[in-house]
Amino acid sequence: MNPTDETVIVLDFGAQYTQLIARRIRECQVYCEILPFGTLVGDIVARRPMGLVLSGGPASVYEQGAPVADASVYDLGVPVLGICYGHQLMARQLGGTVVQAEKREYGSTALEVVRPTALLQDVPCDAVCWMSHGDVVLEPPSGFRVTARSATTPVAAMECAERRLYGVQFHPEVKHTPFGRDVLRRFVMDVCGCAGRWTAGSFVEEAVATIRKQVGDHGVVCGVSGGVDSCTVAALVHRAIGDRLTCVFVDHGLLRQGEAEEVRGAFADALGIRLVCVDAADRFLGRLRGVTDPEQKRRIIGEEFIRVFEECAAGVSGAPYLAQGTLYPDVIESGTATAATIKTHHNVGGLPERMGLKVIEPLRYLFKDEARAVALELGLPETIVFRHPFPGPGLAIRITGEVTATRLGMLRQADAIFIEELRKAGMYNGIWQAFAALAPGIRSVGVMGDARTYSHPVILRAVTSDDAMTADWARLPYQLLQTVSNRITNEVPGVNRVVYDISSKPPATIEWE
Ligand code: XMP
Repeated sequence: MNPTDETVIVLDFGAQYTQLIARRIRECQVYCEILPFGTLVGDIVARRPMGLVLSGGPASVYEQGAPVADASVYDLGVPVLGICYGHQLMARQLGGTVVQAEKREYGSTALEVVRPTALLQDVPCDAVCWMSHGDVVLEPPSGFRVTARSATTPVAAMECAERRLYGVQFHPEVKHTPFGRDVLRRFVMDVCGCAGRWTAGSFVEEAVATIRKQVGDHGVVCGVSGGVDSCTVAALVHRAIGDRLTCVFVDHGLLRQGEAEEVRGAFADALGIRLVCVDAADRFLGRLRGVTDPEQKRRIIGEEFIRVFEECAAGVSGAPYLAQGTLYPDVIESGTATAATIKTHHNVGGLPERMGLKVIEPLRYLFKDEARAVALELGLPETIVFRHPFPGPGLAIRITGEVTATRLGMLRQADAIFIEELRKAGMYNGIWQAFAALAPGIRSVGVMGDARTYSHPVILRAVTSDDAMTADWARLPYQLLQTVSNRITNEVPGVNRVVYDISSKPPATIEWE
């Protein structure tokens, strides 16, 4: 969806940082979409981009089978910026020379600007940038000028201003290149000529118009969980089609303590949209019996959600559309043509092949903070907007191994204590997400009263993050951790030990499964 008339497209060659490029461009209030490198030129042109970025990637441009862009992208009259692999690819495709570097360049590197051109005019003379490459551009293509170099990279930046083609070997999108945002801003605003009109307000306007066009006179069911993503989608669809929207809240038996009542209340108060609540705990838990593999759990839950929605849709005079709150990180982590599958998010990779509903996902290309801005624009209350994310598969992916009623009971109780104490300490809003997880496969020896115990540990997890693509463990005060630990071991039967997860993402993920 192009919410304004200004779009910049990033062609993805498989870099870890591709999403960051899109984020940085959106921070310039310019809509940015990531497409796989092999996207047909016709499909690129159809989006009427004002600029193209070729991302980095792990391959070498001279290897057989290395990913390439259709060479005609350089002749569209649209400015192109190549980053790292994209820089080398542009050089090679246009007749320059790319070779293996004598010395790999990785990490912070001094950059010498030899020509302070449109793109590099904000780069200070003692600039340091982030490099991560084993190949270098030795000779730029004819018509190109070298604009920067480093000790080991003769062409650290190049350009052919007449054709509006630019390449940088360093990564402007990462924080370790302090002037990097300025380079991307100069590209998007000065070179591509974008004005920066992409705001939450413009997004809402465009999304509502697109939903109206897509849905016509039909009805829509919207799966809501009470979280910000699905509530925002519900509010957008409601604004577009009014009472032809029916929201469905599925209690799959994997919710937190008191969650079903809380969501029903908050939803009715805040949105005033018709809500159907379905108690489907038995069917979800039945299908999960004996299942231990995390991906299988996710697929089962993803499919069962769809079956419930299909049944609800059939009851609403055959509404053919399902709206859901998929976000961009869900799409990326579920695996794309160029990104590895980290985990199958229930609403993306977990969708069954056979589906009787067409999916509407207005937030599919947004990050969480962008979705929150849209939610505030729509007037959603802060209790919904700043609620911690809760995954669709719920507590099933916070219990390692089989999900049983007893384990769910223990986890619910421990989780509620943790969240209650976090709120009491005034720390709930400062962190991205906090929860308890249960590892029933582990038992350890303890002593309670005068007796020996041999029970399970509860794991506390609290993280800080910008967008869930990376995360760090929250430095919670010892006093708070102590209170939570005491309460859990005293109040939750079957738990004799509490541990705090101090892993960042990567290498861990936020959830345990
Ligand atoms: P991970 O565990 O991948 O989680 O670091 C990143 C964020 O996504 C949430 N998450 C999910 N949300 N369906 C969802 O709706 C899912 O299948 C799913 N898996 C993870 C997770 O809670 C965190 O905020």
